[in-house]
Amino acid sequence: METGVKKYFNLSENDWNNRGRSVPLVEKYEEEWVEKNVKFYPEDIVLDYACGLGRWVDILHTRVRKIVAIDGSELLVKHLEEKGYENVTSITGEVPRLSGYHQYFTKIIFAQALEFFTDKDALELFVRFKDILVDKGQLFISSWAEEFINKPKTGDVVHVPHPRTGRIVDVFFRPRSTKEINELLSKAGFRNFRTGSITELRNQLPAATLEKVPKRRVIKILIVSLAEK
Ligand SMILES: C[S@@+](CC[C@H](N)C(=O)[O-])C[C@H]1O[C@@H](n2cnc3c(N)ncnc32)[C@H](O)[C@@H]1O
Repeated sequence: METGVKKYFNLSENDWNNRGRSVPLVEKYEEEWVEKNVKFYPEDIVLDYACGLGRWVDILHTRVRKIVAIDGSELLVKHLEEKGYENVTSITGEVPRLSGYHQYFTKIIFAQALEFFTDKDALELFVRFKDILVDKGQLFISSWAEEFINKPKTGDVVHVPHPRTGRIVDVFFRPRSTKEINELLSKAGFRNFRTGSITELRNQLPAATLEKVPKRRVIKILIVSLAEK
């Protein structure tokens, strides 16, 4: 995990909920898309990688058999553990924590985190994802669309106020196009995938989210991908 990413995300629950007004909006669009496009079954074994505070764990834990939730930020995983869900294993860590699994998960959720990974780390992760999915298992990926980022950016770094201290933190952040995500999936050995974007009409979005967004009628919010092993 890049230094700035670690610095930014090791947050208390309160601070987690204070990451900017666009976050709940983007989450809502993503959740609606997933509900429409991914079917969850009581026998599913789900990996929520880079789970954060467990948004997807909260939504899914009563609907599937088991969830393994992994995140690099210790505080977030601690908060998730405190929720005490019986069928959820919460783990602080990164890719090496996946090494004990092989063809185990029926679904993988990798939501709003790819942008914090370098190309090399993303590829390594996707190769692991392919190995730990069962045949016909599904991988869901979401990543913020570049045009919806309102924060000042220099190269692969965004400059964002820390949710607790307000001090600017430089966070590695590389939004990817549909083509770039497809290339990563293909390099990792996935053959069956579709990637697209979640869009909204500009005039339907709150003014506060539109500061640096292009003056187009339709705005890309999230890039989403569904890959099958
Ligand atoms: C924007 S949050 C998304 C959280 C959650 N998936 C959601 O959609 O609500 C990004 C998360 O990625 C985690 N993260 C970033 N890089 C990581 C890495 N290399 N390994 C594990 N977690 C990572 C951060 O700690 C943070 O919790």
